[in-house]
Amino acid sequence: MKVLFVCLGNICRSPTAEAVLRSMLDQSNPIHQQIEIDSAGTAAYHIGKSPDPRSIAAAGKRGINMDGLKARQAKAKDFYEFDYIFAVDQSNYENLKAIQPVDGTAQLQLFLEAYGTESDSEVPDPYYGGEMGFDWVLDLLEDACGQFLKSLANNK
Ligand code: 4NP
Repeated sequence: MKVLFVCLGNICRSPTAEAVLRSMLDQSNPIHQQIEIDSAGTAAYHIGKSPDPRSIAAAGKRGINMDGLKARQAKAKDFYEFDYIFAVDQSNYENLKAIQPVDGTAQLQLFLEAYGTESDSEVPDPYYGGEMGFDWVLDLLEDACGQFLKSLANNK
């Protein structure tokens, strides 16, 4: 099963989601063994770049590793290659809708609306804010990734 997280730049929220979910996979769990994870941005600004150092630092404080991740842009082909495409916010959900092929097979969802445990339906963009924003992104994503894995276990 293939899961793609999508934000705007693919340097803050979606690579964090990718790293968080990967860090939660338990390789002794047969469902988890089948999960492949990737992330992308709807914008092209940061293609080829590593995650934002503030995201790397915030994740690192929680023992979550973001080494080796490089930004790429989301593309129409992703809708045939992934089972789930999770947008971090409404604006990126709309950006994805705009490139979604009519016969694309991926399930496109607003991640927190589907799996979030807080009342927030969007992961706020931390790029122009302070350090606290990056911790909050992690809080939201850890909760929702946990719910996502639970839902897979319940639907097997
Ligand atoms: P992300 O954050 O979408 O979570 O990766 C952003 C990164 C860069 C920009 C905006 C948001 N930017 O405007 O360059």
